[in-house]
Amino acid sequence: METLDYDVAIVGTGLAGLRTAIEILRKDKGRLGVKVAVISKIYLMRSHSVSAEGGTSAVLYPEEGDSFELMAWDTIKGSDFLADQDAVWRFVHLATQEIRLIERWGVPWNRREDGRIEQRWFGGLSFPRATYAQDKTGFFEMRALYDTLLKYDNWDRFDENFVTSVVIENGQFKGFTAIDLRTGNFRYFRAKAGVIATGGAGQLYRITSMAASSTGDGYGIAYNAGLPLKDMEFVQFHPTGLVPRGLLITEAARGEGAYLINKDGERFMKRYAPSKMELAPRDIVSRAIMKEIMEGRGIYDEHSGLYHVWLDMRHLGKERIEEKLPFIREIGLKYLGIDIVDQPLPIRPTVHYNMGGIHTDIDGKVLMANGTPVRGLWAAGEAACVSIHGANRLGSNGTNDCLVYGYIVGNDVYNYIERERPQYPDQPRTALSAEEDRIFGRILGRESGGEDVYQLRNELKDTMERYVHVYRTGSELEKAVVKIKELKERYKNIRLTDRSRTFNYNLQHALELGFMLDIAHVIAQGALLRTESRGAHARLDYPNRDDEHWLKHTIALRSDGEPSFSYIPVRITMWKPVARVY
Ligand code: FUM
Repeated sequence: METLDYDVAIVGTGLAGLRTAIEILRKDKGRLGVKVAVISKIYLMRSHSVSAEGGTSAVLYPEEGDSFELMAWDTIKGSDFLADQDAVWRFVHLATQEIRLIERWGVPWNRREDGRIEQRWFGGLSFPRATYAQDKTGFFEMRALYDTLLKYDNWDRFDENFVTSVVIENGQFKGFTAIDLRTGNFRYFRAKAGVIATGGAGQLYRITSMAASSTGDGYGIAYNAGLPLKDMEFVQFHPTGLVPRGLLITEAARGEGAYLINKDGERFMKRYAPSKMELAPRDIVSRAIMKEIMEGRGIYDEHSGLYHVWLDMRHLGKERIEEKLPFIREIGLKYLGIDIVDQPLPIRPTVHYNMGGIHTDIDGKVLMANGTPVRGLWAAGEAACVSIHGANRLGSNGTNDCLVYGYIVGNDVYNYIERERPQYPDQPRTALSAEEDRIFGRILGRESGGEDVYQLRNELKDTMERYVHVYRTGSELEKAVVKIKELKERYKNIRLTDRSRTFNYNLQHALELGFMLDIAHVIAQGALLRTESRGAHARLDYPNRDDEHWLKHTIALRSDGEPSFSYIPVRITMWKPVARVY
């Protein structure tokens, strides 16, 4: 085992991870010589953030009618009143500075005629505040952050290092364990402070817009370490995933004026959100599409066996499409041979985001079951649940969350190091050897058993796709829980086909699957317990929101391999819940 010492170890190299690293180094300016490790299981610029397309919301034009109040209200109403309102308030104020800052770092925001930054409509907004760079916003943001990080010396990059656990003893963070995928060597990143910024878990499903790397490792390591996960039953379906695999067709298409039409050529959103139409929030549009399909107004695609509706951009015209949606045109042409200039795209809801995540406080400090922070551990971005997005995130409120919370967490981590001058922790020998034995002895070295990682993974995806989808029922969720438990039992008997150490993806996938099964269990069981409909959690057997019993966050903890659940209040500081009508 190799030990690597860093003041701060950040796991995850998407927008949240990079922004955190920059903030720490920027604050330090070499004063304390804070040394940062930036760790990722993939190549840094392949992080899922690069695939964010449509925009990043912020208040830029109060003189034209936007305001922090309006953005906070949109976010809270969009969240179906499950967001913590003090956190939202802070978030909307900090988003503006991030847009200006990353512009200076090189993001080529689209411009108005007068040279000022352009913004566009997104679902659930009362003002067109999604700031954008064509339809490749995430790519340009990632590039600007990466270029900026390269200006600093005091950090090291560990691409292709798969983090397997977070070590916490007596409420103190002690580091991360990892496998260096190139060599198969076991590593201990010993650090005074740690940040988990590993993104979401879309790969639990078969149809997802999330990258193959989005397997929820951060949730998994936190949960295994006995830390609470919050609100995991709220899984966001983006309405417009390209059939068949769910590739993201940005909401910006509808922001630019695209229509959703059913098999009869009807703009069906008039039935579900008559004032907002296609620009209702995602949970509502996803439900509308599924309703159209369930009621026989979808279109059958014989290649995939899936039903879909159409996303129609023909009326936008070639010039506008080329200027504002070039990537969507490219996706249509490359994947389906469809030119959106003269044909609509087949789309259906695709898993896009996890509203839930690692339970943190308003500064991103990771909280223990008793509600106190783990000393030295933070989470940021989609890995964290602060909670800003409650039961449903608004489109264009994801990348700004990563930027704002990268800033907040970077700042907080630096203050901790500066003020408390923590020392390197003692080597947690027992924990390290137990983890090494789990990976290389019990999983890689296992001779008996015949379960195949990919078979189990497929069965898990099918289960989630079938029973834990846009619409849920108690009996289907029960089936999901039973099946997930069966898969967890079978997982104990997996046997790898690749027994080598070098780039052993079979081993990596096995470890990821362990996390995925646990997370799926938390999601399905949490959804079964929540007997109401709120935001992205829509129960056909409990169709109404029930504030009397369920205006509360779900907290899931591991206990004897099973999730156990408790609930904490939502922080309501400004707006009492009202009916959510668009
Ligand atoms: O549709 C999109 O471009 C996605 C944006 C988001 O999830 O915020």
